[in-house]
Amino acid sequence: MIYLKTEEELQLMRAAAELTSATLGEVARWVAPGVTTQKLDTIAREYILDHGGRPACLGYHGFPGTLCIEVNEYVVHGFPSAYVLREGDIVGTDLVVELNGYCGDSCYTFPVGEVAPEVDTFLRHVKESLYKGIDAAKAGHRIGDISNAVQSYCEKLGYTVVREMCGHGIGRSMHEDPEVPNFGRRGIGPVMKDGMCICIEPMINMGSKNIVIERDGWQARTKDRKWSAHYEHTIVVRGEDPEILTSFEPIREALGERFI
Ligand code: MF3
Ligand code: CO
Repeated sequence: MIYLKTEEELQLMRAAAELTSATLGEVARWVAPGVTTQKLDTIAREYILDHGGRPACLGYHGFPGTLCIEVNEYVVHGFPSAYVLREGDIVGTDLVVELNGYCGDSCYTFPVGEVAPEVDTFLRHVKESLYKGIDAAKAGHRIGDISNAVQSYCEKLGYTVVREMCGHGIGRSMHEDPEVPNFGRRGIGPVMKDGMCICIEPMINMGSKNIVIERDGWQARTKDRKWSAHYEHTIVVRGEDPEILTSFEPIREALGERFI
């Protein structure tokens, strides 16, 4: 069931998305060699609670963090831990915040200090693929148009698209219909309509597309242990030009010239 949001609900979606983005901006200030991923999680949790929100991943089917932490070969749903970030790593921080009953969902993959040039290029490309997907989100077009835009952009560059995980609708729940795959054919899937709130979240690998899920049932990493990146925005379909509800602007402000 796809729930189209009213203007009143969109106000609440905007507020939840804004807190989600501000939290990732706060996390950005702490990403550096020597910092544990547990520390990033604590920063996020405290920031959300201080601003009246609820960390929606924490306790969700038993998930142990506020943030999903995705270091290097980790794709999604990694646990915050005592791992100490090292120069040259990449770390994805995926976050869902609930505020006044509505959810915002966003993910950003950060370089830790200086990363290898091909990794820097990879991150820029994966982030761009998110905007290619967003550009395809138009009322009257289909979800497959988003999927195809992400997949064709990434595969032309020699990267691969994770198949097992996808984007999703969002609203009162963090996961609503429809599913938003990052691969597929144009012209298939549900028709997009004004007021449809969806999360677009390319999960893209440098090596093969295959992933394995660890025995904890959550943490997903690439099978070949080559690196993976993940960016995500919450958007609402509005005619030809979607409104992007989350924003990387707080991250840009936090990182200054280190923002890529
Ligand atoms: N952005 C992630 C998703 O859409 C958030 C997952 S939260 C978790 O699946 F609790 F499931 F980990
Ligand atoms: Co999501």
